[in-house]
Amino acid sequence: MIEQKLNELYQKFKSELGGVKDRAAALNLKALYLGKQGPITEILANMKNLSIEERKIVGPIANGLKEKIQQDVEVSLQKFELDEINLSLSQSQNKIDLSLRDSLLAKVQNHGGAHPIWSIQREIEDVFLSMGFEIIDGPHIEDEYHNFEALNIPADHPARDMQDTFWFETEAKPGGFRHLLRTHTSTIQVRGMKQRRPPFRFIAPGKVFRCERTDASHEMVFHQLEGMLVDKNVSVAHLIYFMKTLLSEIFKRDVEVRLRPGFFPFVEPGFELDIKCLLCKGEGCSVCKQVGWVELLPCGMIHPNVLRAGDIDSREWNGFAFGLGLDRLVMMKYAIDDIRHIHSGDLRFVEQFKSY
Ligand code: DAH
Repeated sequence: MIEQKLNELYQKFKSELGGVKDRAAALNLKALYLGKQGPITEILANMKNLSIEERKIVGPIANGLKEKIQQDVEVSLQKFELDEINLSLSQSQNKIDLSLRDSLLAKVQNHGGAHPIWSIQREIEDVFLSMGFEIIDGPHIEDEYHNFEALNIPADHPARDMQDTFWFETEAKPGGFRHLLRTHTSTIQVRGMKQRRPPFRFIAPGKVFRCERTDASHEMVFHQLEGMLVDKNVSVAHLIYFMKTLLSEIFKRDVEVRLRPGFFPFVEPGFELDIKCLLCKGEGCSVCKQVGWVELLPCGMIHPNVLRAGDIDSREWNGFAFGLGLDRLVMMKYAIDDIRHIHSGDLRFVEQFKSY
């Protein structure tokens, strides 16, 4: 009698499972049959009322049925999972042939990796892209106008001496400008402004060149990332917000920042932005030279003369600009004590940053 009842129960379960359309429904059905209130649990609980002979027959059948239901549900779950994978693969644009990747990897024994400057640049670009900035580029070989003049640094300005310049020997055309290797990425400010109308925001990463004696913290070639935002009623609070967001993303934690006055002819007011030392949390250590703060990036509110050089009406528009030193950031992030390692081309250095 009970055998027949269990058999019928299983047939009923099978036909219900056949009608199930997704994983959730299959799991529900399992709960219905095997859960605390379910018929199998009830049969097993009632075993105590049966004679020993009956128990010997019913026990194994009921337990077997429980196992069969579990297995059937499992098979159906796997099928739904496979269907989902196949569906998402058939809809995906990027089909990946894993077998091909594995066989290719096996053959490559010594592959290259991203240089840390490149990696940090990409990381910063991602953060700015997510905040609506464009990424733009400019030439390494520049002229005096873009490097100095348009940035409010006229010929006799002492700020020109601060940036030891590699000049080209060729004479400037009459009324023209001499050529040089750009000493900063700020050259892209004027080019960027002239190519677009406000409001706009862009960043411009790249190499810069200075004719300097090298030491642990100076190189002749290094990397900057210039940024500029022009809009209406931009304030120092906006500048702080964007810089804080960027630095928190890079250092993967909340950072505290402060502004000190800094002089750069192309911004007014100009600032040096410091972050609270991440190593000692402001207590004072050798990295922050016991000050508790580390100087990280110069920035400021764009000088009206610079906006004018970009054909922008400074009575209507204003904005901020900043110049990040990428080498300094990499050195802080990875505790590198000599900037000359960065361009050494020494594989022992670069291979430490390889990711597999
Ligand atoms: N161009 C400056 C340098 O290389 C850095 C800089 C300072 C850039 C202030 C800026 C700024 O955009 O606002 O020393």
